[in-house]
Amino acid sequence: LNYNVNRERRYILEVLFNGLRRLEYRGYDSAGISIDSSDLPSLSPDHHTISFKSLPPLVFRQEGNIESLVKSVYEEVASTDLNLVESFPSHAGIAHTRWATHGEPAPRNSHPQSSGAGNEFLVVHNGVVTNYQVLKETLVRHGFTFESETDTEVIPKLAKFVFDKANEEEGDQTVTFSQVVLEVMRHLEGAYALIFKSPHYPNELIACKRGSPLLLGVKELTEDRSNGASFHDVKFLTKNGQPKELFFSSDANALVEHTKKVLVIEDGEVVHLKDGGVSILKFDHDKGKNSGSLTRSASVQRALSVLEMEVEQINKGNYEHYMQKEIHEQPESLTTTMRGRLIRGGSCKAKSVLLGGLKDHLKTIRRSRRIVFIGCGTSYNAALAARPILEELSGVPVTMEIASDLLDRQGPIYREDTAVFVSQSGETADTLHALEYALENGALCVGITNTVGSAIARNTHCGVHINAGCEIGVASTKAYTSQIVVMAMVALAIGDDTISSQARRESIIDGLFDLPNKVREVLKLDQEMKDLAKLLIAEQSLLMFGRGYNYATALEGALKVKEVALMHSEGILAGEMKHGPLALVDENLPIVVIATQDACFSKQQSVIQQLHARKGRLIVMCSKGKASSVCPSGSCRVIEVPQVEDCLQPVVNIVPLQLLAYHLTVLRGYNVDQPRNLAKSVTTE
Ligand code: G6P
Repeated sequence: LNYNVNRERRYILEVLFNGLRRLEYRGYDSAGISIDSSDLPSLSPDHHTISFKSLPPLVFRQEGNIESLVKSVYEEVASTDLNLVESFPSHAGIAHTRWATHGEPAPRNSHPQSSGAGNEFLVVHNGVVTNYQVLKETLVRHGFTFESETDTEVIPKLAKFVFDKANEEEGDQTVTFSQVVLEVMRHLEGAYALIFKSPHYPNELIACKRGSPLLLGVKELTEDRSNGASFHDVKFLTKNGQPKELFFSSDANALVEHTKKVLVIEDGEVVHLKDGGVSILKFDHDKGKNSGSLTRSASVQRALSVLEMEVEQINKGNYEHYMQKEIHEQPESLTTTMRGRLIRGGSCKAKSVLLGGLKDHLKTIRRSRRIVFIGCGTSYNAALAARPILEELSGVPVTMEIASDLLDRQGPIYREDTAVFVSQSGETADTLHALEYALENGALCVGITNTVGSAIARNTHCGVHINAGCEIGVASTKAYTSQIVVMAMVALAIGDDTISSQARRESIIDGLFDLPNKVREVLKLDQEMKDLAKLLIAEQSLLMFGRGYNYATALEGALKVKEVALMHSEGILAGEMKHGPLALVDENLPIVVIATQDACFSKQQSVIQQLHARKGRLIVMCSKGKASSVCPSGSCRVIEVPQVEDCLQPVVNIVPLQLLAYHLTVLRGYNVDQPRNLAKSVTTE
């Protein structure tokens, strides 16, 4: 790096930029950063002491991805005299990557949002402030002018309003940073994780949250900062002499290269970093709303947890894209998902599954009036794929709910229900709100997530982690297959008390043991799917027909093609073909038909016949060696996949479709890991 920037400032910038790069998969339309500017030395009137007056923090905001921000910051820093600063005894910087909800991607709408001239208060925000219009009107009446269309801008402006008012009343600057933030929180409705920075409180940061995720990483520095790499001799000495770095982040990915020691910040907590120390206050939103004073905050003690992830997991390794890596690591991720959970049995012991997070609740689940699956996107599709086996082995009716639809309808949820919340991130706002709703209605709530410590994992009564490892590609792949496997294991555990289904359960368990090998085998279709993608590259539309266990495969395959390859694609229940979709069929529209061996096979054969009779352009997925029974004329393209136990077949069948979506995207020249307009974890409704 030849930037004309001193080493410490560069270190600070690089830490923040790298953090943003790790978070980019969660939002990537614009970004921003704020760091401290130089302290201005001034001589006391008696000329005996020098004090340092903090200048307003520097703020940089840029439309586009993180690299556009990096470039613009270094251009600006290098072109000014900002590089003159020699050292920072301590320093507080903030940064943000955005997924636009209110206001188009543009520098003025990027974060940090500011209180106005002088950047007296700066805020980065994840979430949505639902009452921002009312707050904005009030602040405008008090003379504030707004420059963005964001909901976030009310927050720093409110902080300045609170700060000025308190100082007017006290006549002196006695209000603390925490008091300002607590007072701001009292007025905010909605979901948020916030970080505040202010030159009135130099080198301090405050973070608080309600609804959106937030972690604090704690890194004690020893003399040998082995992973400081090119910045090894930069140290931050705090007042108590212990060198330390503290990091707030909405995602563990940005922390793991610095530290594994984290504090999972809870709703209502206000975390204050000052002089290397951490203090936590608890804000009770409901009480706080009605209270006129600040006495409701109490100091709390919290223990640190240790992140169970490695930096390698969040690197691309030898792959070109995260989605590609995550598709290809499915044999391993499935193995990790099942590790320690399948019992091989023996001469006098049946094969079974052990799900520690569920075992004390199995009786209640078996006695439920129904099991309701609730999720969004790919997680919903995974639940749909597992529904038939859960119905079969539990004997309990299983219904499906898309989280937002359940909330829109305020659909009935009863005390006697078991509500299963499926979410890779464990933070999706729709699913989280549906969980709150189900808890209010007294249902037993089970969480199935990939993120230990996530809101869904913490707020459900019990659950199972899918342990698929960190998934970074916005389009979910390995989490999908691991979710299906977890739900199949849940079905096995619930059905474990039924003798009549023991043979069936045992053959599913055998199938699970062998599943990673079968997935390894199906991954060999990579080149074949690339060739197919070349054929389909210019198509406008692609239909996918499935039924039974593989209705979900059709929906999920179409979702993959739609979200990354930006090609219209629709998953269709083959049983519904004659009730509308058949009208679309002609010799041009490509159609994927999933017709692997199971109880629905003969019905799928007749679907193929009918599509054929209408000159449909067919691509048929069938079990290995069965090409002639799905395509007797030899006129369709066939994808042969290894056959597994029917309820596990969706795990194998989705892989070629993931590969197809991946190759289509790359060939069409789109960004496969960060598809247009989408975000990995949608923490706003
Ligand atoms: C977003 C993502 C999808 C994901 C869905 C549900 O839309 O782009 O890939 O399936 O959210 O996310 P969750 O984390 O709850 O599984």
